Amino acid sequence: MSLAHLFSADCIVELVLGSARAEEVHADERALAAGYGPEPAALFALGRTAAHRCLRHYGLESQPVLRGAGGEPIFPGGLKGSIAHTEGAGIAVTGPGGIIGGIGIDVERRGRQVNPDIARKVCRGPEAANLERAGENADELLLAFFCAKEAAYKAFFSYSGVRLRFEDVELDPGPEGFRGRLAEPERWPGLPKSFRALTWRGEGLLVLGVTLPS
Ligand SMILES: CC(C)(COP(=O)(O)OP(=O)(O)OC[C@H]1O[C@@H](n2cnc3c(N)ncnc32)[C@H](O)[C@@H]1OP(=O)(O)O)[C@@H](O)C(=O)NCCC(=O)NCCS
Repeated sequence: MSLAHLFSADCIVELVLGSARAEEVHADERALAAGYGPEPAALFALGRTAAHRCLRHYGLESQPVLRGAGGEPIFPGGLKGSIAHTEGAGIAVTGPGGIIGGIGIDVERRGRQVNPDIARKVCRGPEAANLERAGENADELLLAFFCAKEAAYKAFFSYSGVRLRFEDVELDPGPEGFRGRLAEPERWPGLPKSFRALTWRGEGLLVLGVTLPS
């Protein structure tokens, strides 16, 4: 599966590797990173650079990607979008707001160990049983569970401003990623009850994408 196939055909995904040039960060965005140390500032620049490369496809590259009260990126031109970054990589996805209800992306370096305390929060019940069965692939699967839930968190937040917890989402691993559902859909009237979280591996990275239709 290619990176573009994580999302529907009307979405744009851009990955930036290495370091970003400061001039690709809009002046209005620089204020969002005021007070950041060098490492967070570099990650911020990677994410915004990826976002601007998405905006270039719509002729909107001179517009800033600002930040909402929940920390979420606000894309111009009625676009929905999501940003993620990890050491040496920034990634962004955008899609038309009328078609996309919510969208989320997450990226991690493959081989990253998930803290055991977080692992216990991320995976419970059948998810934890899947991990036990995964044997030597358990660390990789745990990272994918984590990444998928972060992508789902961003997608549901962009859908309706809801902040899901790890236990609010249940994931079943499958060949292309995960089938996901809300654990207690009756608690969330109006939210999509199920979704897919698709996986891409390349460049030493693990990327998970979630799209919720409008
Ligand atoms: C918001 C959160 C998902 C960001 O994840 P992270 O691993 O810290 O960082 P990432 O590189 O993956 O993503 C960072 C980007 O997420 C985006 N983001 C921040 N808050 C967001 C929100 N509420 N909704 C959507 N996107 C958000 C921002 O664009 C941010 O980058 P920027 O500050 O440079 O603009 C994470 O900090 C968090 O709060 N998680 C909640 C716990 C959780 O994941 N639960 C899962 C429930 S299913």
